[in-house]
Amino acid sequence: MFHLTIQLPQGERTVEVAPDVTARLLTDVLRGLQLPLNTRCGQRGLCNGCMVEFVQGRLQHAATGAVLAAAGTPVTIRGCEVRTPATGSAVIHIPSRSLLAHQPQVVTSFRLNVPRAHDPVWQQLTLSTADLDPRRAWEDALRAAVATRLECTLPLDVEPELDGRATSPDGIYRLALEHQGDRRVLSASHVAEPAHGAAIDIGTTTVVVMIVELTTGRVVSSASALNAQTRMGDNVLTRINVCMQAPRFVSRMQHAIVRGTLMPLLTEALAAADLTPEHLACLVVAGNTTMLHLLHGVDPTSMGVAPFTPVFLDHRIIDARELRLRVRRGRVLPDGQDDSAPADDPEPAERRRLPLHTLPGAAAYVGADITAGVLATGMAYRDDTTLLVDLGTNGELVLAHQRQLFGCATAAGPAFEGAGLTYGVRAGQGAISHVRLEPGELAIHTEVIGDVPPNGLCGTAYIDFVAQARQVGLITPTARFNGHDVPGIIRHPDHGWAFVVVPDAVPRPLLITEADMASLLQAKAAIAAGVTCLLRRAGVAAADVAAVFLAGGFGFHMRVDSLLGCGMLPGFQPEQIQLMGNTSLAGAYLALLDSSILREMRHVTQRMEIVELNLEPDFEATYIEQLSLP
Ligand code: FES
Repeated sequence: MFHLTIQLPQGERTVEVAPDVTARLLTDVLRGLQLPLNTRCGQRGLCNGCMVEFVQGRLQHAATGAVLAAAGTPVTIRGCEVRTPATGSAVIHIPSRSLLAHQPQVVTSFRLNVPRAHDPVWQQLTLSTADLDPRRAWEDALRAAVATRLECTLPLDVEPELDGRATSPDGIYRLALEHQGDRRVLSASHVAEPAHGAAIDIGTTTVVVMIVELTTGRVVSSASALNAQTRMGDNVLTRINVCMQAPRFVSRMQHAIVRGTLMPLLTEALAAADLTPEHLACLVVAGNTTMLHLLHGVDPTSMGVAPFTPVFLDHRIIDARELRLRVRRGRVLPDGQDDSAPADDPEPAERRRLPLHTLPGAAAYVGADITAGVLATGMAYRDDTTLLVDLGTNGELVLAHQRQLFGCATAAGPAFEGAGLTYGVRAGQGAISHVRLEPGELAIHTEVIGDVPPNGLCGTAYIDFVAQARQVGLITPTARFNGHDVPGIIRHPDHGWAFVVVPDAVPRPLLITEADMASLLQAKAAIAAGVTCLLRRAGVAAADVAAVFLAGGFGFHMRVDSLLGCGMLPGFQPEQIQLMGNTSLAGAYLALLDSSILREMRHVTQRMEIVELNLEPDFEATYIEQLSLP
């Protein structure tokens, strides 16, 4: 019999592990004891989820059989790499950050294929004087008490402002513990309880903010809007070119994203959840490399010319005040306006530090949005061949094959997000998310998001239309109308030949024009050619791919048959495709709540081989080939 003593946040217990169980991994033994660890990589030794501290006794390395010993000084080991011997004893400590908090789940606009532990990048805790050892110096005593409460093994810095001897007359310390990469920082908490964080996806076209309660991981509200930089260019290259022409545009772009987009969105999302800015403790942002440069006010022009070198790709943490990002109760402060707060505020939000994390990216055109997706889909941990297709303005693709990651980007344009199309809108209230075209009469049926009159069509509806119009013979392979003497087709004085989708829409009928279909066709060709070249480069056939994770701001609204019908994923079958929603936002949400993800994201960026499609000899020919519908 083997005696295993398990130290847990809620106390200690000792169990006897029968000899027939000793062949199992420690993670399996613990799962049998109803103590499942976060084994998100499937017990392959590829993540940081199953870390435990080996305090005393003997264990056995599962792969080599070597005996591992500990004598009181904790050693961090992976639970999935050791097993318990037939006899003897061991003491292990399981930090709460390794205990499984959530299984894979669907969270409003995205799906998470990996479990997570609960170890937010920002945490709040309360200590009293009685928790502090009076024999120790105050700072040491505080450190020890926090390390015990939150099982913090990383170096812990104490902010000088936190001199509790002077500032805590009631003997209660309200503290904030902030994750800062390889260390944690302890400061006084001025955040109203319960503290919330924001997961943010900055897309080239669309920006989404999601407010999350940090102690539970509950999503309490979200808001989205067009990126205000769009008026200076609808894709990353145009925005980079604008910055090349006049450096002042870097700060204009920064102003557009910070003050023109994020601040109103944060205000709106907080108000929708009945929260004030004083509840907001931290922000985690995912986005492509250009968007993150512009958020930080860093000149992105080096990414506009070969060899397309970004200024930074790493995980960055700054104080949001450095970006002049201020969030106020129900309104947005213009520069320089009086920033006094109502008397009942714990502390005006803009006077305290508001940590903002931007996630790490792999390259100029395979950014943090994709790193986030690789983690959220679970493809970073799988052994089989999988493909991530992120249908954004910058179509980004990652192929995982034989434990290698190949990433590339292809300029799709904003059509998938409904931008740049005659009546295109983002997927939101009033957007037509789907259309169905009856063969014969060509009657059109629409599905609208929310119980409101339709106000436009989102990218998914356009894709439905193109696929079905081709199927019933309404359009040619080059997405032109096959004839004009057909019910529903009109010649519009401004937009040319078009199909009327909602004739009685207010203020004007909603149409799909030939120009819209041409934009869709170009976007489709960019993705299809990118997928084809990436598979070719890795020597993989579509049939060899176990799963295609389809991601994008359209959430779960995309219809797989329409996508395949318009030839977006040549050679793939519906059963290979899994709709993931906004995986960039999913990764920001994961990192907000499980800080160990940040380190794994860094590993993903190091593993990624970047394929430059413009240097692939057959990319252009493939793109031209794909400029037609099946
Ligand atoms: S489950 Fe052990 S390393 Fe991932």
